[in-house]
Amino acid sequence: MRIGVYPGSFDPPTMGHLDIIRRAAGLFDKLIVSPMVNGAKKSNFTMQEKTDFLKKITADLPNVEVESFGGLLANYIRERGACAIVKGLRAVSDFEYEFQMALANKKLNEELDTVFLMTSQEYLFLSSTIVRDIARHGGDITGLVPEEIREDVANKLKDS
Ligand code: PNS
Repeated sequence: MRIGVYPGSFDPPTMGHLDIIRRAAGLFDKLIVSPMVNGAKKSNFTMQEKTDFLKKITADLPNVEVESFGGLLANYIRERGACAIVKGLRAVSDFEYEFQMALANKKLNEELDTVFLMTSQEYLFLSSTIVRDIARHGGDITGLVPEEIREDVANKLKDS
């Protein structure tokens, strides 16, 4: 069985993330979506909230599992018997950081490859940071995050 892991901050998950999840689910027998800690970012949502959001928005995808992990991605991949990391790539600005992480992960686990899916054009501008910024100022995030989690995301960010 070919297992892929899609790790990320998912703070919160966006339509761009869901687009990558759907497409990656079609490429692997099983896709594990994993909220993880990015040491360079301060998280606004808890791991539990992110896990619940991701479970809600992937409920219709039978080969997708959601599981958070607090350690090193390379170890998690080994633990779960996965063959690849999946990441979404938006523009040139994402490239340097993603390239660095892919090489670091390869160094930690030689058998591991990172597969990049190009974002769909309509989500090129979208990021969790943009969603948080709009919601904090009371703006409408319809169409930016999956509808199933829109209200919870908006309510949590409104007063933050
Ligand atoms: O959505 P992000 O912020 O680009 O995701 C980054 C993430 C969470 C995948 C990365 O920070 C990560 O892999 N964290 C787990 C700890 C780890 O393995 N760090 C070394 C990465 S080379």
